[in-house]
Amino acid sequence: MIRKCLFPAAGYGTRFLPATKSMPKEMMPVVNKPLIEYGVEEAIQAGLDSMCIVTGRGKYAIMDHFDKNYELEHQIQGTNKEELLVDIRDVMDQATFTFIRQREMKGLGHAILTGRELIGDEAFAVILADDLCVNPDQGVLAQMAALYKQFRCSIVAVQEVPKDETHKYGIISGEMIKDNIYRVDDMIEKPDPEQSPSNLAIIGRYILTPDIFKIIENTEPGKGGEIQITDALLRQAKTGCVLAYKFKGHRFDCGSVEGYIEATNYCYENLYKKNEKTVSLNQFSTFREKR
Ligand code: G1P
Repeated sequence: MIRKCLFPAAGYGTRFLPATKSMPKEMMPVVNKPLIEYGVEEAIQAGLDSMCIVTGRGKYAIMDHFDKNYELEHQIQGTNKEELLVDIRDVMDQATFTFIRQREMKGLGHAILTGRELIGDEAFAVILADDLCVNPDQGVLAQMAALYKQFRCSIVAVQEVPKDETHKYGIISGEMIKDNIYRVDDMIEKPDPEQSPSNLAIIGRYILTPDIFKIIENTEPGKGGEIQITDALLRQAKTGCVLAYKFKGHRFDCGSVEGYIEATNYCYENLYKKNEKTVSLNQFSTFREKR
């Protein structure tokens, strides 16, 4: 069973400046809920209960968000505004939150390695909160956790992208071994279309076996001079096995303005407006049943 989920959350979010000058990009709201809370809900829905967050300078708001705010709670106690805190209280009841700081931004691989002390020697999930994934039936991480039970190896989530967008993603190639499941034989970080081995792009959901830490330690800086998880995963694929899973659901690139607006419109129409109380975005029936 996978219990822990790592959230690399130390990046600057430069594409959203000036909004992200003093506010962490992970706290950008989609309707009325911060991006990282969607990620945490997805992890809880997948059965995980330990959230390990890799933060950086100026990211205190994330820690505060997953802690009590006595003054606020006291102020709104007994009013109809209390309803607005139901989702975040549920989230806080169902998981623990631990934090570690990444002192230097040396890439996603380095951020994951920084989380090693929080993860230890067990398989774990990674969520990049600015990829917002929605599937009302079964969240993307829950789909991947089910696959992990069967295959017991690292898994990356992929989706097809237009050829001229391969330079934005890690791209995989491999043999399809089952419906929507590929055994990875190549993986390149942000290739130009001519060098791209396919149009299957990695999105921000991973399940990693703990041997990945040792591999990252021995991974030289790659694309952009950064330590890339894609390069480490390729080595893992060559010596063992890495799967790529074409997931079911919608994914929004909330690291871009266009994707963020699309996510906002989608969540407003499909989650917020349809919720009977119109105050909660909660997409997960398990939470609602608990109320
Ligand atoms: C990272 C990964 C990339 C992956 C992407 C998904 O890139 O390095 O392989 O495709 O996340 O969002 P970033 O978007 O952080 O540059």
